[in-house]
Amino acid sequence: MPHHEAQNNLLGFRNESLLEVSRYIEKELQEHQESHFTALSPDYFHQYYSGEEVLVGEQSYIYRSYRTWLDLAHRLDCRILTPKELAHPLVKFTFIKNKSLASFHDSHSPDPSEKYGTNSEFARLSKLEEPDFLLDYKDALEQVGIDNGDTIINLGINSADEFKLIERITPSDVFNDITLIGVDHCESALKKAKEHFCKEKHMFINQDLGSLNYSELPKANLLISIGTLQSSAIHGQEVFRKAFQEGLHKGASIILGFPNCRYMNGELRYGAKIKNFKKPDLSLLIKDISYYKKYLQQHKYEVFIRGKYTLFLCATPRRAKSSSAADRSSALKT
Ligand SMILES: C[S@@+](CC[C@H](N)C(=O)[O-])C[C@H]1O[C@@H](n2cnc3c(N)ncnc32)[C@H](O)[C@@H]1O
Repeated sequence: MPHHEAQNNLLGFRNESLLEVSRYIEKELQEHQESHFTALSPDYFHQYYSGEEVLVGEQSYIYRSYRTWLDLAHRLDCRILTPKELAHPLVKFTFIKNKSLASFHDSHSPDPSEKYGTNSEFARLSKLEEPDFLLDYKDALEQVGIDNGDTIINLGINSADEFKLIERITPSDVFNDITLIGVDHCESALKKAKEHFCKEKHMFINQDLGSLNYSELPKANLLISIGTLQSSAIHGQEVFRKAFQEGLHKGASIILGFPNCRYMNGELRYGAKIKNFKKPDLSLLIKDISYYKKYLQQHKYEVFIRGKYTLFLCATPRRAKSSSAADRSSALKT
């Protein structure tokens, strides 16, 4: 059990195990909306692993990094306030229980094509402001490389944030020479996309992904589809196979993104969730990604899978790896 810290009249952890700490906080949160306690400030200790014992004077403490405290808050479905520095070596933590409102993933729009439209909860998200998404997507773009004259097709483009990162990391003379094709059935999101990408080489197609006619489109060197193919409302594998077989140049690269998270009440929560399951379960996600990986490997692709809240599958043709992938990525700003 935590100790009573006399100087600030708060309960404090010194060398209790993480199991004891989490049980204590969980119990507090069953009765209250918030849990306040003190613990060792990580600021004074460098290159320790969480769980290592440290001595301050004669008192021993268990060191825990802020990442550990954030992970614990995340697992206990809490957010934390900025820790308050107390007398050396302590800080005060406040864990606040998240309100359990429904996620927008469960929302029903009267017009299903507007589920992700500009008036939806989804439109509040800025994935390019999420460090893992931003850096993993950027890595994937650098890995496949983008060059003069490329054509990029994005299935489920929404309001085109995924093109915005390409614009930001590509020299303007190269970007101006790229054809962008975005497909979505959401009219309001496409209208927003067109406000930003309005050049002749920018095409936005309001169409169901299942009935897209690739013979009417330029063939692409890069296919991107993020957060779309896994949807239960889409035959993702069919949509992908058709795009791969009919919409791409031979040797085109592929970037697919699969959500391993949920967005609720301003919080990003780790773990894909299966309908009617209380806790996250990654089985379907793993099965789905394995399908695309195997399919592409059978077509002589080298496939990498990376990521955290969004898993990115990045595939380049095996035989083109040494020359073209390395050369093509040189056009991107580093
Ligand atoms: C979850 S959002 C992902 C958007 C964006 N790629 C991202 O990751 O932020 C899925 C997108 O696919 C679109 N979409 C879903 N089903 C579709 C379909 N059958 N045909 C065309 N677009 C569809 C939605 O309108 C939405 O913009």
